[in-house]
Amino acid sequence: MQTLAGIILCAGKGSRMGADCPKILYKIAGKSLYSWSLDSAIALKAHPIILTLGHQYKLIKKDLDNNYRNRKNQINITIQKNQLGTGHAVGVALKALANFDGTILILYGDTPLLKIETLKSLINLHRKLNSDISMLTSHVSNPTGYGRILRHGSITSIVEEFHATSEQKLIREVNSGVYLFNSSFLKKNIHKLKVNASNEIYLTDLINLTSKPVESIIVSENEILGVNNLIQLSNVEKILCKRINEYWMLNGVHIVDPETTYIDFKVQISKGAVLEPGVVLIGSCKILPEAIIKSYSILEDVTIGENSHIGPFANIRPKTIIGSKCKIGNFVELKESNVQKRTKINHLSYVGNSSIGKFCNIGAGSITCNYDSYHKYDTRIGNEVFVGSNTTLIAPLCVHSGSYIAAGSTINNDIPKKTFAIGRSFQQNKQIK
Ligand code: UD1
Ligand code: MG
Repeated sequence: MQTLAGIILCAGKGSRMGADCPKILYKIAGKSLYSWSLDSAIALKAHPIILTLGHQYKLIKKDLDNNYRNRKNQINITIQKNQLGTGHAVGVALKALANFDGTILILYGDTPLLKIETLKSLINLHRKLNSDISMLTSHVSNPTGYGRILRHGSITSIVEEFHATSEQKLIREVNSGVYLFNSSFLKKNIHKLKVNASNEIYLTDLINLTSKPVESIIVSENEILGVNNLIQLSNVEKILCKRINEYWMLNGVHIVDPETTYIDFKVQISKGAVLEPGVVLIGSCKILPEAIIKSYSILEDVTIGENSHIGPFANIRPKTIIGSKCKIGNFVELKESNVQKRTKINHLSYVGNSSIGKFCNIGAGSITCNYDSYHKYDTRIGNEVFVGSNTTLIAPLCVHSGSYIAAGSTINNDIPKKTFAIGRSFQQNKQIK
């Protein structure tokens, strides 16, 4: 079996992003920019995978520690102190591949739209031709900034914008920056690259050092889009979101208006679920069959049971689990709560750190007071409990099954089973003179 290693170049400063945060830590569709490339390399079973880091590498290391803890054996880091160009960056990464023999895949940490199938086709081509170098190229509408591909049938050279003649600048086939190298060719030749007129070491100059033909797979312009500023970040995210939405629509999820629906990559949605316009699903949400998420509802890291209706304008925050056939209505906020089947919280409520049994009704405007500015406290509500409108439930509190709370009550003592509780001052009517 032939082996594959990965190098992901991430040392660039990303200065055009205009902020201190390292470019590759910006999130799109719920995942850091660099993770899209890294996860592709993982999916291709590349081992090891070397990340070449530079600018603010400690922050990126921390992100890796948090998100790839179980892949410590597979992922290595090399630090490129001074960014002297892509050739130099790969030279630094190769130090971690001294014992590796096989095919080396090179990706950038800022091109998240590459498809796994494309990379698989490139690997097949490379191995079939037994090449030293294979690459992805693209015909783009505006080639400015890209290295232009020079061909004589096969690729003979790549000329960078800075060095291109006005005639070469018109070439629209460009270098994506994705390559496969035969490891022995790469190791033997990387140190032959020289610092050039623009004071950099170009990886692309390796094409001049192979005696074998260099072939490419030509991909759509979209796939090679990189992120250098916040406008490109949002463009790339739009394309990724469209892909994610189309995936779910092809899997039986009715997305009424995909243009305004945002779904993170980790979200799972069952067939028959409906997402109305303006729905945002963040993190690892799980939406079960026939659930309807109505317009402008935001859900993060939550589970929504079968046939439940959420929103419009609901805010369902992390660690909330809603059972089947529940109704969570407009302007309801739930946080770290468990709501069992057929319970209704239909209007203007805040429910935090709570468990609510089945067949309950939480009246309009009712809230749990779960925080005393030091600690959070739990509210436990049994089955078939009726909470009248505008009830204030002061936690810690336990309302046992079958109880009934009068509207407008403030409740700060536990309520036993099947009990009517009223906690408000009584109305007085006085004659006006
Ligand atoms: C490079 C290619 C160009 C190609 C373009 C595609 C070279 C010489 N040119 O352009 O042909 O069309 O990519 O986007 O390779 N990086 C490092 N260390 C460095 C320099 C870069 O890690 O010293 C990383 C960057 O973080 C980035 C990637 O390499 O992820 C590409 O760097 P960038 O400066 O954008 O590439 P260009 O040289 O403009
Ligand atoms: Mg670039």
